[in-house]
Amino acid sequence: MKIRRMASLKTADEFQKYLRENNIILPFAENTAALNTPYQLDGKTIGNRFAILPMEGWDCTSDGRPTDLVRRRWSNFGRSGAKLIWGGEAAAVRPDGRANPHQLLINADTIKDIADLRQLLVSTHAEHYGRTDDLLVGLQLTHSGRFACPHDIKKREPVILYHHPLLDKKFGIPVDYPVMTDDEISRLVQDYIRAAELAYRAGFDFVDIKHCHGYLGHEFLSAVERPGKYGGSFENRTRFLSETVQGIKAKTPEIGIGVRLSAFDFLPFQTGADGKGEPVKSDGYYPYAFGGDGTGTGIDLTEPILFLKKLLSLGIKLVCITAGSPYYNPHIQRPALFPPVDAYQPPEDPLVGTARLISATAALKKAVPELTFVGSGYSYLQEWLSRVAAGAIGHGDADFIGYGRMVLSYPEFAADVLNGKNLKKNKICRTFSDCTTAPRLGLVSGCFPLDEYYCGLPDYECLTCSKQQAKKG
Ligand SMILES: Cc1cc2nc3c(=O)[nH]c(=O)nc-3n(C[C@H](O)[C@H](O)[C@H](O)COP(=O)(O)O)c2cc1C
Ligand code: SF4
Repeated sequence: MKIRRMASLKTADEFQKYLRENNIILPFAENTAALNTPYQLDGKTIGNRFAILPMEGWDCTSDGRPTDLVRRRWSNFGRSGAKLIWGGEAAAVRPDGRANPHQLLINADTIKDIADLRQLLVSTHAEHYGRTDDLLVGLQLTHSGRFACPHDIKKREPVILYHHPLLDKKFGIPVDYPVMTDDEISRLVQDYIRAAELAYRAGFDFVDIKHCHGYLGHEFLSAVERPGKYGGSFENRTRFLSETVQGIKAKTPEIGIGVRLSAFDFLPFQTGADGKGEPVKSDGYYPYAFGGDGTGTGIDLTEPILFLKKLLSLGIKLVCITAGSPYYNPHIQRPALFPPVDAYQPPEDPLVGTARLISATAALKKAVPELTFVGSGYSYLQEWLSRVAAGAIGHGDADFIGYGRMVLSYPEFAADVLNGKNLKKNKICRTFSDCTTAPRLGLVSGCFPLDEYYCGLPDYECLTCSKQQAKKG
């Protein structure tokens, strides 16, 4: 497999020829007009079809308040030109749920700072685009579960729902490690309800009850072997969602609710002899991948479709589709040519991963058209992001095109596309993965290669040295 760099596919014909030669199917539009159309959601007009995906920066204070780096990032989200801000970044609903000791934390002490953060995003948007009545801003609520790391970046303090034979082994969880009890889960539901009320008071239009990327909400969906009312049957595995949503609706009916879902999952991957990713060996049947077909590397959308119908029955309209987890199979979620320092080389052309996400989202949209779908994983498309995105909108494969990494390297990307400007080549995200590598090394996240501000930070030197050391082995 010879992967062509995206920057080498200079014309639309070359790009499409490469797709054909490699049997990769992606939508593609003649122009980007479809992105510039408004969308109606429950009587509100959202100004265009770009969405900014949530991205944390490992850069809050130790008590969970935003710092200048966080404010700069959120201000860039406002400046982007996208009219849907999906979540900003993951905000832990309580201290033991933080994925790192510098994650945003939502509680009575931090809420004023979080309200100011949202306001900064909104006023930056107003300064650049003159209006905000067509802007929708949500906050992502999370508990990091198995990947919680609330005190020391080098020490995980997992909160697990069941013993996963492969992930326990991969991340060193002993067999007698305690599993969260049903009572503890009921208390966690209350924390989400409290957090949603705070988010409403801070001015957010909606909260995302995160169900993706291997964190706690996502782990419920694969708890097929957990006994009791939160495991086993589909009904039980979605009880946490139902109780949380019903509780929020009872206490704060004014706030909107969305769900970011890993709609399919694979086995954990590891580095193979040739440096490329390969699935870890399993004993055949693999039931722990929500949206998987049992093989560990195939998709079956039957349960994800049931899940989406459940959202509808709970009165939820907004869903954002992603996949897998950055901790154990990053290539299916964040396709990249250059992996983070602790990951494997791409096991497939990253365009295959991009196409997999786009086509799964399209299949789900087709199955449950009443929902509003935000797609993910478009940054790898680089120069061709907007034409593929417009193709997806034009075909009805998604309602919004979400992107993450591209906004870190190129904050005004959406505005440039929508205004028909030539793209600034030197700002296009080339998927160098330093925004993932840096936090893996205990540093703040950001686009170190392309954002000058980050080149000037002391973390830049640490990142360069640590990467060199990691290469030497
Ligand atoms: C630095 C970084 C931080 C991220 N943080 C979050 C997060 O807080 N919540 C979340 O749901 N996804 C998070 N993601 C995943 C992104 O939202 C997105 O799904 C992913 O980057 C793929 O989209 P892209 O190809 O446009 O980058 C993060 C990704 C990156 C690179
Ligand atoms: S560090 Fe910058 S160029 Fe690299 S993946 Fe992240 S946003 Fe893209």
